[in-house]
Amino acid sequence: MNTPSRALLFTAVALATVSHALPAHAEDGFGYVTAGLVLSIPLGGSLDQIGLGVETSYNSYSARAEVLGVGGFAQAQLLFGGGWRVDVGAQGTVWFGGAELGLALVAPRWRSPQLGLHVAPFASVGYGAAAFRWTPMLTGPMAGTLGYEITVAGKFWWGVEGGRVRDLYNRGCHFDCVIVTGRPLLVDGHLVVASVDRDPAWSGDPDAPSDDALTPPQRSALAEHWTRSMREEHASVAAFARLSLQLMSLGAPPELLRRVHRAAIDEVDHARRCAALASRFAGEPRSPGALPAACAPIAAVDHATLAVDTLREGCVGEAVFAGAAARARDRATDPAVREALTVIARDEAEHAALAWDLVAWCMEAGGDTVREALRAAAGELPTGERQREGIVDGALLGRGWVSEGALASSWKHRRREALRRLGPTRSTVRAMA
Ligand SMILES: [Fe+2]
Ligand SMILES: [Fe+2]
Repeated sequence: MNTPSRALLFTAVALATVSHALPAHAEDGFGYVTAGLVLSIPLGGSLDQIGLGVETSYNSYSARAEVLGVGGFAQAQLLFGGGWRVDVGAQGTVWFGGAELGLALVAPRWRSPQLGLHVAPFASVGYGAAAFRWTPMLTGPMAGTLGYEITVAGKFWWGVEGGRVRDLYNRGCHFDCVIVTGRPLLVDGHLVVASVDRDPAWSGDPDAPSDDALTPPQRSALAEHWTRSMREEHASVAAFARLSLQLMSLGAPPELLRRVHRAAIDEVDHARRCAALASRFAGEPRSPGALPAACAPIAAVDHATLAVDTLREGCVGEAVFAGAAARARDRATDPAVREALTVIARDEAEHAALAWDLVAWCMEAGGDTVREALRAAAGELPTGERQREGIVDGALLGRGWVSEGALASSWKHRRREALRRLGPTRSTVRAMA
């Protein structure tokens, strides 16, 4: 096998490996699509070989290793001295650095296209990237020569979550691996939310003024953030409705039933506020659509099961989001965002307090079995240590961005509270009941 054939085979294997790894890698992670301009300046060569063109890339990051990305890139450039160059291949990143590996098709003026390798270690921060690009030529009269250049690129980027734009939901992501906006709707242990629709009855005035201070990527990130919050708040309405039926099956007192229904109405209000913000940042109406899972069969529960579910979803889950929402409110500069987060943080804290009262009632009604189940469940609460606070720009924080890291630190705090209140001694539990 000659050198060009080996290079082609090598690149094909690299691309096939990346394309095979991407869907699994991105399933519960996130990715970035970039597009922009690229300028290449030869080192030691003719200035005729300066190239200017366009570049696009996609990088996918696993939720389990947020700093490791894999993906692909493509570049197309015109050369100042005439001719053109196209590069395509795979890339990998670690933190702010990485490397591209692929093929280059180079067609200098007056010459037919010739094949080379593309090898380029790079550094990328925000909207800019710089690389050293080596091009060992494989075919034609330039075979055996080595071109090397500096390339600089300026590009926009767009976040893509779950690999397929938030296709996280309805795919079986278990509660353990995701912290949501308030009480989750779980069916068979899986998180479920509605589809996204365009009903202005939820989203309010579609002609609300847009936020001109934002770049398109920032606007897109905020639209997705508030759309996710909208879907999760909307699902909480069903979560409380189903909770009320389970409570009735166990003969709960009227005050608890009243507060659970009140909480469901709070969640309708939260969903509308989030829909209005999502629509404003998206520049089009966004609303929660149909949610068939709201009618999924409701499991019969005993006091222990209800107490454990409430501990996880309410005492910890809703308290976590109450804390994160309060933190986001304090950072918010946008008046509508601030108002929404003020209401949401207040209500979610009340829902968490309601959850602790539900747990206390379950303990009173169910006795030692419930206490033992709660103590065991508290000890098994996920630690949240997988999440870290990433770099989030001020424009996003000013408009209510809640980072995974903020949720994680709030989670750790609430987990400690649950352990303190429920374990390990029997006297602690009795004192609380
Ligand atoms: Fe809630
Ligand atoms: Fe809520």
